[in-house]
Amino acid sequence: MKNVGFVGWRGMVGSVLMQRMIEERDFDAIRPVFFSTSQHGQAAPSFTGQSGTLQDAYDLDALSALDIIITCQGGDYTNEIYPKLREIGWSGYWIDAASSLRMEDDAIIILDPVNNAVIRQGIDKGIKTFVGGNCTVSLMLMSLGGLFAHDLIEWASVATYQAASGGGARHMRELLTQMGMLHNSVAKELENPASAILDIERNVTALTRSGTLPTDNFGVPLAGGLIPWIDKQLDNGQTKEEWKGQAETNKILGTSSIIPVDGLCVRIGALRCHSQAFTLKLKKDVSVPEIEQILASHNDWVRVIPNDRELSMRELTPAAVTGTMNTPVGRLRKLNMGPQYLSAFTVGDQLLWGAAEPLRRMLRILL
Ligand code: HSE
Repeated sequence: MKNVGFVGWRGMVGSVLMQRMIEERDFDAIRPVFFSTSQHGQAAPSFTGQSGTLQDAYDLDALSALDIIITCQGGDYTNEIYPKLREIGWSGYWIDAASSLRMEDDAIIILDPVNNAVIRQGIDKGIKTFVGGNCTVSLMLMSLGGLFAHDLIEWASVATYQAASGGGARHMRELLTQMGMLHNSVAKELENPASAILDIERNVTALTRSGTLPTDNFGVPLAGGLIPWIDKQLDNGQTKEEWKGQAETNKILGTSSIIPVDGLCVRIGALRCHSQAFTLKLKKDVSVPEIEQILASHNDWVRVIPNDRELSMRELTPAAVTGTMNTPVGRLRKLNMGPQYLSAFTVGDQLLWGAAEPLRRMLRILL
């Protein structure tokens, strides 16, 4: 059995990873070693009944004794520890949720239902570093993978609706706190059907602008609104999140000529589901039924939702998809621009296929 180290298993993505690994009985197939950046020496978790002690996540000797390391600890940890481990000659497999190593030539972005062949070829070539993709990119490819696999996409333009969880656990708390404060400020008036809605709105807007809502994490209020910017600003006017769309999509797919992917990334008040509205330019005119068939047969998790009001409202929302492995795609129709222009709307749990799931599946591939 392989010795597999886990770092950052207690955080939000790490916790989802542990949950999925328990559900899929992954721990039965490995000898797990749990690490901590701050609490080594304390009792390790006993997800499968095993007992042990938390190891020091900065102890290079302990880390280099492992066959595989899975980290959800974040980019700073990767930047500090990964080069040191490789420098001392550690040749184990590094599976990482953080973005730091994603675009390195000797790293593969993992999303095996989409790029299993790229992953297998990489393993054969001796690649030892496997990194989970950006969540919007992974979720797009899980939903639209069929069209990419059939080489039908000339370009993709996207507007995202990204959940608070993409920022982290504290962002989710901040959003919910903002929501609660806004509600509390008008709770009495809301109970009274005779109260004037514009007065209620005025109070909510005044509180939103008052500077008293907590905004340490998002920087500005999000509840009841949105933020049309995610991540750093690049010199070309894109956000870092927008830049990743094309860069990571093409790297995951291993394309020989770049498929343009671009758009605007927007934070909204969803908790953990990212949604995305696409305009796709197809390389040729393919009928919608054929497109639906191509999409539906790509992987076991994509669900094609017919372009129907009731079904879209019931099955193509964060409320329906959160906490599930499904990656539905709907609102499929040809646009006024012409028969090669297709709209699509996707929803996916940002913590499952967008973060934790590709990591545990990569582990399975290596066992
Ligand atoms: N960067 C993403 C977001 C999450 O902020 O929503 C991680 O892929």
